[in-house]
Amino acid sequence: MSNSRVSIHGYWSSRLMFILAAAGSAVGLGNVWKFPYMAGDSGGGAFVLVYLVCIALLGLPVMVSEVLLGRRGRSSPVNTMRALAEEENRSTSWSLVGFMGMLAGFMILSYYSVIAGWTLAYVLEAAQGSFTGLTGEKSGEVFSRLVSNPWRLLFWHTVFIVLTMAVVARGVRKGLENAVRFLMPALFVLILVMVVYALVHGDFLAGLKFLFNPDFSRITPEVALKALGHAFFTLSLGMGAIMMYGSYLPRNASIGSTSVQVALADTGIAILAGLAIFPIVFANNLESGQGPGLIFNTLPLAFGNMPGGMFFGLLFFTLLFFAAWTSAISLIEPAVAWLVERFSISRVSSALACGLVTWTVGLGTVFSFNHWTRIGWLDGTPFEGKSFFDLLDHLAVNIMLPLGGILICLFAGWVMSENSSRDELGMKHPFVYGLWRMLARYVAPAGMILVFLHVLGVF
Ligand code: PFF
Repeated sequence: MSNSRVSIHGYWSSRLMFILAAAGSAVGLGNVWKFPYMAGDSGGGAFVLVYLVCIALLGLPVMVSEVLLGRRGRSSPVNTMRALAEEENRSTSWSLVGFMGMLAGFMILSYYSVIAGWTLAYVLEAAQGSFTGLTGEKSGEVFSRLVSNPWRLLFWHTVFIVLTMAVVARGVRKGLENAVRFLMPALFVLILVMVVYALVHGDFLAGLKFLFNPDFSRITPEVALKALGHAFFTLSLGMGAIMMYGSYLPRNASIGSTSVQVALADTGIAILAGLAIFPIVFANNLESGQGPGLIFNTLPLAFGNMPGGMFFGLLFFTLLFFAAWTSAISLIEPAVAWLVERFSISRVSSALACGLVTWTVGLGTVFSFNHWTRIGWLDGTPFEGKSFFDLLDHLAVNIMLPLGGILICLFAGWVMSENSSRDELGMKHPFVYGLWRMLARYVAPAGMILVFLHVLGVF
């Protein structure tokens, strides 16, 4: 049966726009801020290896599944899951996958916005010349001055939420497309410039070794779970963002090759970001496992000591902010679209409501870096010592995204009939279709379940 549903929210103007928008969603703070610091915290190469395996074997099939479901359902993830389950005469409780995704979206955006606020604050630092002639120690001071001041964090968090909601309120074409058309290519070029700087002035060999020479003894259950969660986070999977974007995809676009292109672009940018950062870390004897402050402590060193550094610093943090912006939009789009569908309200009201909730939850992260660095009542639990930010990140990224991914794969591979998925994917080669179906039915769910069991200490 061919699909005849229509999207009430509009469509992308072309396949290329979908690729740019999906890449805009995927490429964000996850690649440039989070990937390097997680690799740094988790032993470099070991983390990178598991992460790459997770992207190829688990991330890609989930991405294809999400786009497939989205394009067939043509509405927000909650209603897409419900409609597709009805089509196959299955329980409509599958819509819970959409609800869990929306919840994860709120949780992630609430802290994502605070970190994106750091990039805005750094645009200003760069413009004021704070990076000029910086040393490792001074760079640390600039960063601690920022995060220890909750008012500054609150201000930038508020600015970022307002900007995000402003685009979401304008809708698919006017809002989203314009935001991604030029910014993604520009960010890519600038990261290349940073890699060249690291090649010339950093300890490039040490950086390469750190990222690509895995110490297998460091592949612990926790590292595997973090790499799995990050693979989902970085590709924007498991919570319906890509499903939502898939629902705006024109019918004639190939889902398989589009997904591969998005995944390659995303992974490429993460690796390049690692290659830009670690050579500078090692050349300046900085700590690779210093956590969320990593890029904010290291990159200004490069900007402060390169010709034209003020300009490049300004440009870099501006583009990073744009990358975060295009990702943030996709984090909240499923919830905004669902509210419009469910209550027939305008996009503007819906965006306003979602923005308010996210902003409020974000206060917990604003304080996680100054007054409230650990949650006291977690003492004696496995989460002892964690801050609100750590907890939110852990629950949403390491638990909810992979769980959402498993359910999406199981739905696409087992619940959806072979006729429907074959028709929607329209893959020319039967082998490619068979490969996707095998990965979606067996390999991806089994892989994710194994990692979960491993973490729970079952084996
Ligand atoms: N993929 C984004 C990044 O790497 O920064 C973050 C993200 C966006 C995660 C959208 C999840 C999502 F649905």
